[in-house]
Amino acid sequence: MATLPERYTAWWQKLSRYNQTHLLKFWPALTDVERAQLLDDLEQVDFELCAPLIETHVRRRPAVRIPEHIEPPPSYPAEPGPGQEDLYARARRAGEEALRAGQVAAFTVAGGQGTRLGFDGPKGAFPISPVRNATLFQLFAEGLLGLERRYGRRPRWYIMTSPTNHTETTGFFAAHGFFGLRPDEVVFFQQGQMPAFLPDGRMALADRHRLALSPDGHGGSLRALRERGALDDMRAHGIDTISYFQVDNPLVRTIDPLFVGLHLLTGSEMSSKAVTKAFDTEKVGNFCLVDGRVTVIEYSDLPDALATARNADGSRRFDAGSIAIHVLSRTFVERLTAPGARVHLPWHRAEKKVPTVDETGRVVEPTAPNAVKLELFVFDAIPLAERPLVLFTQRAEEFSPVKNAEGLDSPATARRDLVRRAARWLEACGVSVPRGPDGEPAAPIEISPAFALDAEDLRARLAARPPLTVEPGKPLLLA
Ligand code: UTP
Repeated sequence: MATLPERYTAWWQKLSRYNQTHLLKFWPALTDVERAQLLDDLEQVDFELCAPLIETHVRRRPAVRIPEHIEPPPSYPAEPGPGQEDLYARARRAGEEALRAGQVAAFTVAGGQGTRLGFDGPKGAFPISPVRNATLFQLFAEGLLGLERRYGRRPRWYIMTSPTNHTETTGFFAAHGFFGLRPDEVVFFQQGQMPAFLPDGRMALADRHRLALSPDGHGGSLRALRERGALDDMRAHGIDTISYFQVDNPLVRTIDPLFVGLHLLTGSEMSSKAVTKAFDTEKVGNFCLVDGRVTVIEYSDLPDALATARNADGSRRFDAGSIAIHVLSRTFVERLTAPGARVHLPWHRAEKKVPTVDETGRVVEPTAPNAVKLELFVFDAIPLAERPLVLFTQRAEEFSPVKNAEGLDSPATARRDLVRRAARWLEACGVSVPRGPDGEPAAPIEISPAFALDAEDLRARLAARPPLTVEPGKPLLLA
């Protein structure tokens, strides 16, 4: 093990090559503990990767090429259209078969910083369900227990954390008995980090002895799956299909047999769920066909003329909004992340407010964006996939993310949507749900995913019980 002075010398030489020696500026004033911390931070950075990016993405803004030929993508409807009934039925069976055979794993990306929500802890530990206040992580765990009840096999669960929230996340699971799962069925691994850069290309110091590091985006999940051994673990467990979802969506179906089955039957390498956009310029990615390849174009990059374009029948032409639910083939992730792979996900530049030290080593809170962060987005893998598939689904059934503390996409809207969905499922099963003057269910209702995974599942579960009544104002829990 090298001593601190030896490590310092080696780092000085390396940083000189990359014009980053300012990172050691405060070394003489640091304690040994702080020095070790600084060097540990430096170890996290891939300087070889960063060097060209500083030129192309930090000192300059990479040109955003708006492609000339943008078309709506081919897609599958939520319900089978004429002639598709057989395909959908076969797909559902294929998905169920894969679940029974243990070939599908759930994969949650939970490495984000959750700045907008402002919750003190990993976002998955946020209490969200309307009656029990169960956390996001608990709801996903119960989704897996529900799948086990239905298909006789509990799927393995991979959870990507970040160096910032890893210990808290694993501790949270341990403190809650893994929500009924076995600890060896849940695989946690950490994603990579990227430094924040000052506009001149120097990496920013968050403190005299700390680099300003942040997670490298949800697209970093693909290389983290490889580098942290998760792909090997999947191979060893006979898993070839990955059901990807974000930590912030309590309505998500952790693994959807129809979606998995369509992915498998069509030979897709990466499949995506889409919802009809709420309005032309809704802040969701748009599925498009660009030069013949399915691509997500961010709302900010979709030309207005296209965002507002209409079909002959008056419907919105670009209407497929991305909800960050994907199925990926393990072999696709292996191919994309193989050493020496020729194609890579592109880096995205964002200008952010990053607290940094001034010349004297004092930490300054910026009032305006002062630094550049670089992130990878998982949907950029779609154009690299063979036979990518887009499946529409109903927003009210599957998507209501917790992004903001209040207003749109907040805990309040997610809880409301959980109650609305539970009420709809009950009504579909013939249970009458009292409603207030505003048409909303007049009682908080919660159905644990362990109890029922969808309306059809609920019907079978209720058939075995005495008739259910929902009383105004009285919370109802099916768990
Ligand atoms: P968001 O884009 O909503 O970002 O992440 P965020 O960090 O959670 O929240 P804000 O923007 O700071 O408020 C969407 C999903 O991608 C995951 C998040 O945990 C969430 O599940 N994610 C995001 C990662 O796993 N790693 C990242 O580096 C970024």
